[in-house]
Amino acid sequence: NSKVTISTLDAMKSEGRKIAVLTAYDASFSRLADAAGVEVILVGDSLGMVVQGQESTLPVTVEEMVYHTAMVKRGCSRPLIVADMPFMSHGTPRQALDNAGRLMKEGGAHMVKLEGGHAQVETVRHLTDRAVPVCAHLGLMPQSIHQLGGYKVQGRDSNSAERILADAHELQEAGAQMLVLECVPELLAREVSLALSIPVIGIGAGRSCDGQVLVLHDMLGITLGKAPRFSHDFMAGAASIESAIRAYVQAVHNGSFPAEEHCFK
Ligand code: KIV
Ligand code: NA
Repeated sequence: NSKVTISTLDAMKSEGRKIAVLTAYDASFSRLADAAGVEVILVGDSLGMVVQGQESTLPVTVEEMVYHTAMVKRGCSRPLIVADMPFMSHGTPRQALDNAGRLMKEGGAHMVKLEGGHAQVETVRHLTDRAVPVCAHLGLMPQSIHQLGGYKVQGRDSNSAERILADAHELQEAGAQMLVLECVPELLAREVSLALSIPVIGIGAGRSCDGQVLVLHDMLGITLGKAPRFSHDFMAGAASIESAIRAYVQAVHNGSFPAEEHCFK
């Protein structure tokens, strides 16, 4: 039960063992996620929606991410902690470095995650050259919701699928050590996962990714409004929140989640 590091995750990928990732935003749930065997806790900017009740993730600030990351940090000891860089916090490499530094030094994050493809390559290089581990995020990028015109599956036509694959290669080349792939067809996610040497964590991205991530509130069935189709309510039939989280971790580890109905073709 030693601490999870990026080396642990690389080894899991190469051995074909699935990585269980879950979001958490405070110490209590961070402790439960750790107890349930989650390898990676993501302090997602999804907290803007599920904790703050905002309409999107856009209003979330660096200050708020630092605050939640520090709470998560106090609750767990084994998982790797990844903190999201919120909207407008990584517009330039310099700004990104300042803010990533706060998430690591004040929040205690082990890695930062940022949304974006080709345009973020220089920033990712800037961070990784300076000892800031980076998780990239492609496919549906919620911070781009007003450009995308809604929460829709990405990479459905061959042009956008090729763009995602090319961006993934570039981000890995720039030093990214993990990639989140959100809402893309299963076959594309499979291609990206096989092509990259770094762990690829899917959400609405099918069964072939190296790991899976869900938003805590979605998997507990307490999402405000309609839960996304790729999610599953693990609380239904569970005796406690802890056993629901355990069931999720087990389902990811044994490959029973996601199932076919959670995938996009
Ligand atoms: O903010 C978040 O929770 C995320 C996951 C959905 C990947 O970025
Ligand atoms: Na996010």
